Amino acid sequence: MADHDRPASLTLAEKAALTSGATAWTTQDLERSGVESVVLADGPHGLRRPRPDVDPLQLGGSLPATCFPPAVALGSSWDPELARRVGAAIGLEARAAGVGVVLGPGINLKRSPLCGRNFEYLSEDPLISGVLGSGLVAGIQSQGVGASVKHFAANNAEHDRFRASSEVDIRPLRELYLRAFQRIVTEQQPWTVMAAYNKINGVYATEDPWLLTELLRDEWGYTGLVVSDWGAVDDPVAAIGAGLDLIMPSTGGRSDVLITAAVERGELDQAAVDRAAGKVLELVDRVATAGSRPVPTFDRDAHHALAREAAGRCVVLLRNEGGILPLDPGSDESIAVIGELARTPRYQGAGSSMINPTRLDLPLDEIIGFAGDDRVRFSPGYRLDAAEQSDVESLRAQATAVAAAADVVVVFLGLAAAEESEGFDRQHLELPAAQTTLLDAILAVNQRVVVVLSNGGVVRVSGWQHLVPGLIEGWLLGQGGGGALADVLFGRVNPSGRLAETIPVKLSDTPAYLDFPGEFGKIRYGEGIFVGYRYFDARDLPVAFPFGHGLSYTTFEYAAARAEAVPNGIRIRVRVINSGDRAGREVVQVYAGLPGSQITRPPRQLIGFTTVDLAAGESREVELIIPRSELAYYQPQLSRWLVEGGQYRIEVGGSSRDLRGMIMVEVPGDDPGVRLTATSSLAEFLAVPQAEAVLRHLLDGHPMGAMLDDPALVSMIGSMPIRRIAAFPGSTISDDQLQALLSQLS
Ligand code: BGC
Repeated sequence: MADHDRPASLTLAEKAALTSGATAWTTQDLERSGVESVVLADGPHGLRRPRPDVDPLQLGGSLPATCFPPAVALGSSWDPELARRVGAAIGLEARAAGVGVVLGPGINLKRSPLCGRNFEYLSEDPLISGVLGSGLVAGIQSQGVGASVKHFAANNAEHDRFRASSEVDIRPLRELYLRAFQRIVTEQQPWTVMAAYNKINGVYATEDPWLLTELLRDEWGYTGLVVSDWGAVDDPVAAIGAGLDLIMPSTGGRSDVLITAAVERGELDQAAVDRAAGKVLELVDRVATAGSRPVPTFDRDAHHALAREAAGRCVVLLRNEGGILPLDPGSDESIAVIGELARTPRYQGAGSSMINPTRLDLPLDEIIGFAGDDRVRFSPGYRLDAAEQSDVESLRAQATAVAAAADVVVVFLGLAAAEESEGFDRQHLELPAAQTTLLDAILAVNQRVVVVLSNGGVVRVSGWQHLVPGLIEGWLLGQGGGGALADVLFGRVNPSGRLAETIPVKLSDTPAYLDFPGEFGKIRYGEGIFVGYRYFDARDLPVAFPFGHGLSYTTFEYAAARAEAVPNGIRIRVRVINSGDRAGREVVQVYAGLPGSQITRPPRQLIGFTTVDLAAGESREVELIIPRSELAYYQPQLSRWLVEGGQYRIEVGGSSRDLRGMIMVEVPGDDPGVRLTATSSLAEFLAVPQAEAVLRHLLDGHPMGAMLDDPALVSMIGSMPIRRIAAFPGSTISDDQLQALLSQLS
């Protein structure tokens, strides 16, 4: 049977059956009609394909796969091409394992540093999330495997995640929380989009016709399939009616019965079931087309090498005083390696994304690999298991003695697995006390200290950051992270990672502090558009390390930047010079602000970025074309994106607080096409010369006519709707005249 004949030939019951899973990880097959099932698997930073012999919903026990750097690290690469290569490798492993759809990437914004799942997300900025997410999807889908962009949408907390409502205004929703989804959908047409657990403004994401149909399909032109997050559907009939196509996992036939009955009773449009079943069939066909090509195998060594290379690009060198780094592999300096995390690394987060790696680099082994056994002494210093802290003091004393005897100390600090996971949020940003007291004790005997952090969500470093000459943010780096950290410590890799999220001084400084995680089933996004650096800059708050920050072992200089408006945006040109003595990569960042804007805006927001590799002494001109759409804001009353005209302040530099050049560029505004109505204000009428003239004429003789010449009075009554002015006692504007005026102006 030809594929396009299939939907028509299916019975209602068969179509309804297609709209939910057959098992935890497969879609329904229909033997009679030759419809095969599709295998879906997590995602996002590697493949989690459950082993056939373990319970499919158990989180451990999956087949070995390469564990690439989780999103928290990959975001710091600011490199969409790297994301594409990683995505392609994940896609290849998926094909080899017979998986048709990889459940990732996760592109939700990091609204609060407390979100337990921040390690699965790329950034606090929608441009980075969108550009890197787009790279990942392009890579996965280049292998004939579908991606699942998740969790759509406004899923920014784990607390009460199956029921809570994200209460968010349309501007932040559009400009921040939906923005990365919009980019990826329009650029890549992901095979699937995953609808989130939460509600948005009171409506479940899986049951929201505005979200799944009006916005995603009608406005953004999405043609793929919408799958629910696992267990996210509360009411299957409402979900299918709203635009969801596939309910996962299996409902054991329950949803089929409800959907069929609802159609028969006329409560659910048959067309919705046709659409959902049709989307499942399209997915089956896409997977079958890819599956008809020979099943690839993948080279584990090559993928491990990629995992290590990628991890090296994600490491962020936060601080390097007195050139303590890189360490010299050829010297005879002794090195104390302190911290359990050096031999028991944390390299990924807990929950549905947990991968069974094909192998694992240990930082301690890799350091010994560079420096040799004789130079390195290790001491664990603390335990990762909070329940076993009885020997805290003796571990600390041993480690301090080892540190005291060494020329340089590398201390591994970070969060234990139990402290952050899918399913719950953190309560604070603190490192375990056993670790910070250990650091104090080490600093008392040796100040030549490099701290290496391992954490999925940011931790507080204020209080001690200035005491350590070397500080590396190692995030969770995947299975090659141990090697990558050693590569950076010994200078084989010159670090080029940049923070994709701000490291605040303290939790109470953070934008969502008073509204996170919410209560009584509601999460109020009270900070509006001021998320991440947008907020810290608007409040002029100090931060521990700003968004975009990251050092290199070389130095970069910027020549004067130039910027000009071009028909569809802004062109920026700047020459970047590697003024140091080794090759390095700079991440050139462009921010825009509009002083004197008529709308609420942050002082600056990222509108473009690119990376440039430069040999020692080399210089290159970098050009960025920023599309006009990056300057647009969402006008809620007109329900459209608008560019406000004016003199934009374009800033170019190496971080949001290391701006090396500023240029003002005049950008013409969009015509808002505002129509004056009876409820428009006096001030709005006076802003339109033609309207002002008629109004003056009509008010002639009325006291208000005279008031129009007094600026103080106009300021006082300017916000009054024209209809109410017309209704004033003794008004000289009749209803008919007002109507005539409005139709003349429209
Ligand atoms: C997670 C998803 C994941 C799914 C399947 C859910 O709990 O939120 O991200 O893809 O489980 O494991």
